[in-house]
Amino acid sequence: MRVLGLETSCDETAAAVVETGEGLRGSVLSDVVHTQKDVHEKWGGVVPELASRDHLQRVLPVLDEALRKAGCELRGLDGISVTRGPGLVGALLVGVQVAKSLAAAARIPLVGVNHIEGHLMAVLLSERAPAPPWLGLVVSGGHTSLYEVRAPGEYRALGHTLDDAAGEAFDKVAKLLGLPYPGGAHIDQLARSGNPEEIDFPRGLSRRSRAAFDFSFSGLKTAVLTHVREHGVPSGRSLADLCASFQEAVCDALTLRAVRAARHARLPALVICGGVAANSRLRQLAAERCAAEGISLFLPEPRLCTDNGAMIAIAGAHRLRRGERADPAMSAEPGWRL
Ligand code: KG4
Ligand code: ZN
Repeated sequence: MRVLGLETSCDETAAAVVETGEGLRGSVLSDVVHTQKDVHEKWGGVVPELASRDHLQRVLPVLDEALRKAGCELRGLDGISVTRGPGLVGALLVGVQVAKSLAAAARIPLVGVNHIEGHLMAVLLSERAPAPPWLGLVVSGGHTSLYEVRAPGEYRALGHTLDDAAGEAFDKVAKLLGLPYPGGAHIDQLARSGNPEEIDFPRGLSRRSRAAFDFSFSGLKTAVLTHVREHGVPSGRSLADLCASFQEAVCDALTLRAVRAARHARLPALVICGGVAANSRLRQLAAERCAAEGISLFLPEPRLCTDNGAMIAIAGAHRLRRGERADPAMSAEPGWRL
């Protein structure tokens, strides 16, 4: 089955063609991502109006390129899959309307998928993919959640962030430290030469908290703010120490809860996806803790971790295979919870 995936939920206009066979895995025939980083950089965060406008300008060229690189035409596809939510409503609508028009014009099946579901399914495009069930930790700029994945389409939410997403915390702290947007990768880089034990930042919810698999990063963010107010914005060695200490607190909280949830739900594998999965300390700590617990760890290639059309295509391919078809009245669903 050949499926075109279209993603416009936030600040990436992305399209890809994925081919699936008998099993759960898929292969990527093309994968085109236009990032709006330059559009939003000077504002220090995503500006929804600018995002919608840029998606409108880029969506057709990105789609054309994806089809051309895959060497196929619209009519040669078995389906179109588009992100319906969650995300920015204006941004989502661009993708949904374009996908609906193309599907109607070419008379091919259409499905709407959940963006988080896309992140969870992305590992099926990886060279090394687990067999379900697995625990999925989605850590991006907009989401921090734990899901039990029993099969494509069968997800059970185990925990969420109660406030900021992990990537959002990275970006806000980076902004506070005067680093460019998005700041996660800059903190990761600076932290390499810092001491993670220099400052003992809070780890969010207490170990015995009722919400054993939930996350909270707002207290940590406030602790960094308080530190900066007291000591000023650091530079040199102190900046590296602060970045390392902050990063350690985030990665400790994420891996602790992920391992705890995997053990609790008796899941043999952990998959980490979303932009923050690129973080070097998170990868290292997850590897250590999973090895200690006998849990197999899967870290998809960075290109599959950040927003892309291929993850939407593979999630949609499985929906299409189950016989699902979009209602002709399908619209965006910005608050869709998986
Ligand atoms: O998945 P993604 O590309 O987009 C969203 O759906 O949000 O994730 C982007 C997030 C940003 O917050 C960015 O700062 C963070 O991922 N990020 C990182 C690293 N690379 C990207 N955070 C920490 N360490 C990194 N190396
Ligand atoms: Zn995402």
